Formats: sequence, structure tokens, C-alpha cells
Amino acid sequence: MCRMIAPHSPSPSPVPASARPVRKAVVPAAGLGTRFLPATKATPKEMLPVVDKPAIQYVVEEAAKAGLDDILMVTGRHKRAIEDHFDHAFELEQALAAKGDTVRLDAVRDPARLADIHHIRQGDPLGLGHAVLCARHHVGDQPFAVLLGDDLIDARETLLSRMLDVRDRYQGSVVALMEVDPSQVHLYGCAAVEATGEDGVVRVTGLVEKPAQEHAPSNYAVIGRYVLDPRVFDVLERTAPGRGGEIQLTDALQELAAGGTVHGVVFDGLRYDTGDKGDYLRTVVRLACERPDLGPEFTAWLREFVAALPEEEGAGREESRAA
Ligand code: G1P
Repeated sequence: MCRMIAPHSPSPSPVPASARPVRKAVVPAAGLGTRFLPATKATPKEMLPVVDKPAIQYVVEEAAKAGLDDILMVTGRHKRAIEDHFDHAFELEQALAAKGDTVRLDAVRDPARLADIHHIRQGDPLGLGHAVLCARHHVGDQPFAVLLGDDLIDARETLLSRMLDVRDRYQGSVVALMEVDPSQVHLYGCAAVEATGEDGVVRVTGLVEKPAQEHAPSNYAVIGRYVLDPRVFDVLERTAPGRGGEIQLTDALQELAAGGTVHGVVFDGLRYDTGDKGDYLRTVVRLACERPDLGPEFTAWLREFVAALPEEEGAGREESRAA
């Protein structure tokens, strides 16, 4: 069901050799991206630009920064663009080099230099758990990280490094948890937790995928970062399709949590959900404002734009009724 694609020739990684046992990351990128149609009809949703970089590049940069220098993308149909993005682009590089445009040349070369990037195709879109299972052969018998492309974690945060530390100290698997409004819990995997005595680290005693608010064990939502023990593969092999008829990673982790081997790192930093249209737009605006090259001019324009916006619809109606 999963087909290996020969990786492009390994690029030297800028990441210094690390003593961490976790070196591999898996990035599932096989979703259909239906929420962004028609933009995602022929373009993978992971390639949608966030300012001027595709969303998936931020995710790969985050993994590389945490010392994960071997990255496996689990892609689906129409995902050639992802493979091309993390490869060399000889013609483009030659043209930019001939012009002496070193800034753009670096921007074109950077994605292929970030890590040793491999690709595998999921074949059938059978769910996140199945996508992770497709990585089994590549990952082998080592713990590994999983980063979901819809969740961008601000580059100033250290969530993944904290999770790797927790794995080092507690072994087993580690999920990232964020407290959300109870009305939002049905959008996430949700964790039942108990204290460990360590600030920001909890023991996960149960997990349920996208529960109704009244059945949620807590308001701790699983966000798209995991450090997984390779034992998860055996569990995934026998995990039956769950919510939405898909093989859910949450269901496999529930079995491991019941055995007491899952911890959670509680995150309260900056996360951008680019899988949601509203959040996607907010992310682009926010990151553009923060960019030293674009920010000052863009922010000045944004202030004027907001000041010139018409009154909110409700307020306008009140006024016209009063008039
Ligand atoms: C997936 C997981 C879910 C998790 C979420 C985080 O859901 O299945 O447990 O909370 O990612 O973004 P998706 O958003 O792909 O439906």
C-alpha cells in the first residue's frame, strides 16, 4: 500500500551531530486539502504559501532546528510539488547564479539543505495512523518524531526540543497538548491526564479522537507534534478503522496510554493552524507584520486599511435604525 520513492541525493545537513537518540521525523502530507479547494485542486495544501514559503517548509525547518536531520514525507497523489520543492532546481539556480542574485539563489537552495529528505507515497488515504505506519520500514526500531503540516509552531518556540527531552527522561511516547476552549475539543484528539509533579509535563491516561464536548475527558487537545516509541507500529498494524472510517493515530496511542507509557508536554505558546482558512489568513498577516523586510511597510498599510474599514455590520444597522 505504501510505495518508496528514491530520495534525491542526500544534502549535507547544517545541523550538528547530536547525541539525541531521535534523529528521524515523519511528516504526513497526503491529505486531500478539501478545505482549500479550488486552490488545492492541483497544488498540495502543504505547498500553500505562508508569506513567501510553503507551509511545509516551516515544519521541516522546525524539525531540523530540533536536530532531526532525516525527514520522511508521507505523500499522496499530486504531491510532486513537495518532492520538487525539497530538491535542487538546476535551471532556476543557474539562472539566478548567472544574474548574481545570491539572496534568491539561497532561498531556492535552502529547502534541499535543511535535512536528508525522503519521500514515500501512502497509496490509499486510510488515515493519519496509516500514514505513520507507512513510515515503519524507513524508521526502523528507533523512536521518531511526527510533525503535522497544518500546525505551524512559531520558530521562537522550543516545543519539539522539550518533547525530545521528555522522551529521553521518561521513554515511551510523547504528545503535545494545548488547553483549548471546551467548545473546540471536538476538532482534536483529546487527552485524559494526571500530574507528574513536573511543571508542564503530564501523564496521559487516555486519549479519544474528536470527542463531543460532553464526552471529552478534558480540554487538553493533542496538537500536531508527537515523539513516538517504535512500539506504536505494532499497535497500528492491528488498529481498526475508527472515527471517520480512518485508522487513527490517537486510537493506537490510546492503547499505549492505557499501558502508562505516554506523556504530554503542555504547550501554551504560539501555534498557527493553517488548515483552517481564517487561521491561515491570520497567520500570513501576522508573520508578514513580523518580517523585517516586509513588516514596516505592510504594517503601516494594515493600520490604514483597518482604520478605513466600515463599521461592523451590526453597529451600522443600529445607527441606520436610529437615524
Ligand atoms: C489530527 C489528529 C488529531 C489532532 C489534530 C491536530 O486531526 O487526528 O488527533 O488533534 O490532527 O491538528 P486532523 O486535524 O488531521 O483531522
